[in-house]
Amino acid sequence: MDTLQAIRERHSVRAYTEQKIEEDKRAVLEKLVNEINAESGLHMQIHFDDPEGFDSRLAHYGRFENVNNYIVLAGKKDEDIEEKCGYYGEKLVLEAQKLGLNTCWVASTFNKSVVKKLLPPEEKLCVVISLGYGQTQGVQHKGKSLEHVVASKGNMPDWFRAGAEAALLAPTAINQQKFKMGIKDGEPVIKVSGIGVLTKVDLGIVKYHFEVASGRKVQ
Ligand SMILES: Cc1cc2nc3c(=O)[nH]c(=O)nc-3n(C[C@H](O)[C@H](O)[C@H](O)COP(=O)(O)O)c2cc1C
Repeated sequence: MDTLQAIRERHSVRAYTEQKIEEDKRAVLEKLVNEINAESGLHMQIHFDDPEGFDSRLAHYGRFENVNNYIVLAGKKDEDIEEKCGYYGEKLVLEAQKLGLNTCWVASTFNKSVVKKLLPPEEKLCVVISLGYGQTQGVQHKGKSLEHVVASKGNMPDWFRAGAEAALLAPTAINQQKFKMGIKDGEPVIKVSGIGVLTKVDLGIVKYHFEVASGRKVQ
């Protein structure tokens, strides 16, 4: 499966089976986490066979079931941290999808006190991602139309249309899709549009989808 196909097939999955993640798949994900931490300066961690992170009434209330593996997105507090967590977290999400695993981004419905203990006090906990074999493959979210999120008028170049379509498939907090895309001086621009929650994390996720599908770097 290539990354574009993973973008099309990924949907949030909150209920998992008891099937353990195989050693070879763990190794692939751990290697990617190490590469991401080296490149980004983030402190991303992956925890296998550790149900405590989602052992809370809140997680149950949030319809999370059998979450035995999760990824912690955290790092030194700086102004880019949320966007970086979104960008690199989605890279990991799509790699997991390619390995036949399922995921869900989670900002609130996990056990925060357990997860916070995994981090040094000076680091900011951004979001976590649940990981495992889903009981289902999830469902496609309903979303905004291309016209709704594209600021530039007129004909779209093929690369831009491909990027924008992939951006619309990106997960966003409460499916808010608070972003607008356009072209300035021949280059793609994506910005947060309006007020929402975790819009900077969403922006990083959306930019990653756009880049994969368009082959263009977004500033
Ligand atoms: C930054 C972020 C935070 C999220 N937090 C939660 C959460 O706390 N609980 C939850 O059930 N889903 C959470 N989600 C999942 C979104 O609800 C989901 O991505 C959105 O509805 C789109 O659906 P899809 O992922 O299936 O495309 C979060 C998603 C993102 C990107």
